[in-house]
Amino acid sequence: MNHFSYQDGRLHAEDVDLAALADAVGTPFYCYSTATLERHYRVFAEAFPKGTLIAFAVKANGNLAVLKTLAKLGAGADVVSSGELKKALAAGVPANKIVFSGVGKTKAEMRVGLDAGIYQFNVESEPELEALNEVSGSAGKRAPVSIRVNPDVDARTHAKISTGKAETKFGIPWSRAQQAYALAASLKNIEITGVDVHIGSQITQLAPFEAAFTRVVELVGVLRGAGHSITRIDLGGGLGVPYRIDNAPPPEPAAYGAMAAQLTKGLNTQLILEPGRLIAANAGVLVTRVIYVKSGERKHFLIVDAGMNDLLRPALYDAHHDIVPVREAQPNDPRERYDVVGPVCETSDIFAADRDLPRLKDGDLVAILTAGAYGAVMSSAYNVRPPAPEVLVKGGEWAVVRPRMDDDALLATDRIPGWLEA
Ligand code: LLP
Repeated sequence: MNHFSYQDGRLHAEDVDLAALADAVGTPFYCYSTATLERHYRVFAEAFPKGTLIAFAVKANGNLAVLKTLAKLGAGADVVSSGELKKALAAGVPANKIVFSGVGKTKAEMRVGLDAGIYQFNVESEPELEALNEVSGSAGKRAPVSIRVNPDVDARTHAKISTGKAETKFGIPWSRAQQAYALAASLKNIEITGVDVHIGSQITQLAPFEAAFTRVVELVGVLRGAGHSITRIDLGGGLGVPYRIDNAPPPEPAAYGAMAAQLTKGLNTQLILEPGRLIAANAGVLVTRVIYVKSGERKHFLIVDAGMNDLLRPALYDAHHDIVPVREAQPNDPRERYDVVGPVCETSDIFAADRDLPRLKDGDLVAILTAGAYGAVMSSAYNVRPPAPEVLVKGGEWAVVRPRMDDDALLATDRIPGWLEA
């Protein structure tokens, strides 16, 4: 459920009229709904046993205002760089609710995490364990560590966001898990806290999670038998969201939480979850204006002012996003099939192919839905286009939470070396 709906024939974010917002801030822009973020967080948190740490995956939406909205509800953060870590702290996420994931943490990044006193490092390789041991030794600390294991489970999602198969770069191979724990136990600046797993993103069935968690629960028994203290299980993120209004909805958080609680019952471990998409995706839209309607030999193109630099998912994953007109269509309005495309000079700059929409004209606004996760964070200035700004709505209020860079600011990012100066 989200808080984007038509009121008086115009699409609103909560009580804010998106057409009026477009006039005020210009297009394209991302618009997030506070009520939707809050609702998603609460529904997810309530699905898990008390004491579970819900660490929002900052990679899904790293805007400080979004992070602060979630931090106020008690959310922790799952970060994958020292930049994300600093953002989470700046947004008010306490260090003891931050977990640091990722296959390539540098020693400098580890040091930032150690100095902040984060809750745990999710370590993904033996060399990373050794490096962390070294850094924590020189910092005079012991690093809390969960080892991410690779359960070799097919998440049945898009290949590019599937992370739990043996052939991916993620986690320690299942066959070496016990050895890795033995290594960790031998390193004096490492404190083993638990086990971590993450099998992928946009997962729309419970079965792959269940298969992975079952393996993890078995492993916890084996590790405890070997004398390791396992007090936490980090189950990762990954529950999918409905990108198409007309598709069967993915499993409910309640069913997911019940399954996880059932499998880990009696283990007396704290659960950690790292949801990103599920919290943020349907809490955001990308509003864009039609620049031209162009008729080709075979197609009608709706050329909009957002491009693949603003929302990369369709170009990168052939991802589907529903698109709706900001002015509500009436049942008898004429309809047209369009390719909805951006201004970027690539054929992959396409948001939708052969999409059935009410007939539109230049100047009309459309909203690209389910764009709150992996949207703005993956944007770039490709074609020297300033990435779309971000706006956060709460009730009838709105605020620009990341302004649009102007062309001069983009120009100012580059430097001319001395030998090119006159
Ligand atoms: N934890 C870890 C270790 C992850 O790698 C990820 C996502 C998450 C948590 C959050 O997963 P979520 O709950 O959002 O599914 N750019 C892609 C998605 C990449 C996801 C990578 N890892 C997309 O636009 O679909």
